[in-house]
Amino acid sequence: MQMHERIFELALKRSFFFPSNEPYGGTGGFYEYGPVGVLIKHKIENLWREMFIKAEGFHEIETSIITPEAVLVASGHVGSFADPLVECVKCKTRVRADTLAEEKHYALHGERWDGKLESLDEIIGGKGIKCPKCGSDFGKAHMFNLMFQTGIGGERATAFARPETAQGIFTSFPRIFRNHGTKLPLAVGQVGKSFRNEISPRKGLVRMREFTQMELEYFFNPSEPGYASFESVATQKMMMKVGGELSEMDAGELVQKALAANQIMAYFLVREWEFYKRVGIDPERMYFRVLDSNEIPHYSKGNIDMEVETSYGAIETIGNAYRTDFDLSQHSKHSGNDLSVFIESEKKKVMPHVFELSMGVDRLFYCILEHCFRDKDPSPAKEGDESAGATSEPSASAAGASPKGERTNKKEWEWFDFPPDIAPYHVAVFPLMGRDGMDKKAGEVALMLRSSGLDVTYRESGSIGRRYARADEIGVPYALTVDYDTLNDGTVTIRYRNDGKQERIKISECAHIIKEFIRKGKVSL
Ligand code: GLY
Repeated sequence: MQMHERIFELALKRSFFFPSNEPYGGTGGFYEYGPVGVLIKHKIENLWREMFIKAEGFHEIETSIITPEAVLVASGHVGSFADPLVECVKCKTRVRADTLAEEKHYALHGERWDGKLESLDEIIGGKGIKCPKCGSDFGKAHMFNLMFQTGIGGERATAFARPETAQGIFTSFPRIFRNHGTKLPLAVGQVGKSFRNEISPRKGLVRMREFTQMELEYFFNPSEPGYASFESVATQKMMMKVGGELSEMDAGELVQKALAANQIMAYFLVREWEFYKRVGIDPERMYFRVLDSNEIPHYSKGNIDMEVETSYGAIETIGNAYRTDFDLSQHSKHSGNDLSVFIESEKKKVMPHVFELSMGVDRLFYCILEHCFRDKDPSPAKEGDESAGATSEPSASAAGASPKGERTNKKEWEWFDFPPDIAPYHVAVFPLMGRDGMDKKAGEVALMLRSSGLDVTYRESGSIGRRYARADEIGVPYALTVDYDTLNDGTVTIRYRNDGKQERIKISECAHIIKEFIRKGKVSL
């Protein structure tokens, strides 16, 4: 079984995510987040807000999803947001032509598509590549626009579900600039859904038709491309892929070698590197890739992507683009309203330039699952290890955990090593048994922890071993167990997810202790 198949199985079993509209057979390219997945997703989004909006003093907005045609004509999406498609002449199966040519030809010959439709026809038609469903020929390749079209009001004025959250930020820019200081730089972010009618979505959360983006547009005066706190990150090292070669570079070097468009871009690459480490991506399996000029989007003058290695191959999870004044100039031209701003110090009007940071939440969520997935105990307990404090637990070995909570049954060793602030719950609370007052006391402990701001899951049914195993399966870093001793001395056991070890702590101190552990990232005794 491949890693992504194991993740998918666990995702279904534990409500991380599942196909949309399941009773109807699912809908390709659409997924629902279940109760566990949505908690993790929100934590990723909130950490992004903390690091990329609040810590920098930037603004966040929320703009409309349905976007009139004129806006997307100006942005270039109506004209050029398209992928090449071929259709089977017999069964009408539609396939993305460049992906087909890549799999059947380019990848095998170490070549790359040159962007021309004729080249795809030469490969697909010329080499006799047939429809995988019925074995017939494909017709000629043509471009297929990826936007979902709709109509506004009774007149059905043409509109589209936005293909990126960015455009709402550009059209809001003049008002935000006026209302929030009339000064550059000005940065505005947005977290929200975007839509792309992918021809053949595959790879689960990696290529979805409805997905969440976290985008930041940093508007700056092109004559001032520096970043005030750049020096504080200039020596931060990151892995960079340039022309296929991987090497470690620091942010200063990126600017010096003109690999990053400017200090602004290099600064945010450092922040992204930190963010990815904080959410649990393995730094050994991530790198930034400087895109070649033939790969950059129509609006950009330089792109650097984040790529993360997974069992699906390397996945692009962040796009950093120097969008220049492309969007504001286009919207000025098409709307008839000048979107340039007056720069007092220069006594002239300037069209701001834009650095864009665009992250996909769903892809990142998936990569976190792969990188945090564990299927063996990192620190099996030694015979006679007395570090565990619980004294009054019944045998739990039948349920796949030792009486002390360490994992013993291989099948139960599937778990997630999420950083504590990304885990769906900070802590699980269990009464050892649902009787003799332990259930009542455990309910009180759960309530007390919740009111202190912690995310708590509570469960009283099933053996204690089974409950520990379930908490591990969704990556809960700590479990508190209320047992007979608790009723006498006001202490509980705290079990650490990563080594299954336990110690006793006072109920009155547990909220504080757990918050300290979360802050330090402590997940083992
Ligand atoms: N805003 C860039 C993108 O959605 O790809």
